Amino acid sequence: NETLESATPISSLPGVLQHSPDSILEEVEIAVADGIKSVILFGIPETKDEEATEAYSAGGVIQTAISLIKTHFPDLIVIADCCLCEYTDHGNCYATEKGNYDHNKTLELLGDIAASYADAGVDIVAPSGMIDGKVNAIRTALDEQGHDLVSIMSYSVKFASAFYGPFRDATNASNKTFDRRHHQMNPAQRFEALREADLDVDEGADSIIVKPITHNLDLVIEVKERTELPIIGYQVSGEYSMLKQAALKGIVNEKDAFNEVFISMKRAGCSKIISYYAKEIAKTL
Ligand code: PBG
Ligand code: ZN
Repeated sequence: NETLESATPISSLPGVLQHSPDSILEEVEIAVADGIKSVILFGIPETKDEEATEAYSAGGVIQTAISLIKTHFPDLIVIADCCLCEYTDHGNCYATEKGNYDHNKTLELLGDIAASYADAGVDIVAPSGMIDGKVNAIRTALDEQGHDLVSIMSYSVKFASAFYGPFRDATNASNKTFDRRHHQMNPAQRFEALREADLDVDEGADSIIVKPITHNLDLVIEVKERTELPIIGYQVSGEYSMLKQAALKGIVNEKDAFNEVFISMKRAGCSKIISYYAKEIAKTL
């Protein structure tokens, strides 16, 4: 977050900090010491506008963070979430034209965002918007600009979920009226989830995210039967926060509860796990 002067707690995510360009290197240093091999970045820009300009500006918050981290920790794999919603004043994952979604413009901007992250030195871009055609658009933009080594971790199986609440609080997107059920999937739709994964594989994704993870492990198993690509389990903000708050109240044992959930993700076949609890788990491995 560019507007912060120092690391700031997020009230709906106990134990998680929002970082400033100054504090992020300290956080990464701690994570690396704990055994973390890879980090994923989500940006909160100083200004938001209709075109999500700050998402693809060379001096944007994520571009700055990527080059800082890669300069100091060249071996750490840096992933950047790639979507418009944190950068648009209307809070949409889509570009809009007179209030309507503009699909082609959205794909073009996603390509611009990915290329600017690549220019800054990112290893992996992670398009999170469930926009049809996103992987193809990003792959094409990256390749055209000489970034064929940057890979795409696609949020392919992403449900419209109640469990993103704390994330939207943290990114100031929770007060927006826009309804993500337009593009995020209905959790009842098993075949659609498989189709979305197949499409992203065909378009050139390098790995496939399933999220939320805890109650969607069946799809990890099913997607794994259709592709050899790594499947990534994403324990989202609400999943983390529920466990953490229950642990803080003494309702469950924190270490045991998280450990059990992580083990189930590995048992289902997740190759990697994205979690707000990653540092704690890494310390125990
Ligand atoms: C933005 C984005 C979201 C998450 C990751 N990228 C929120 C959303 O789609 O509403 C969820 C992250 C989390 O809850 O940890 N497209
Ligand atoms: Zn989005």
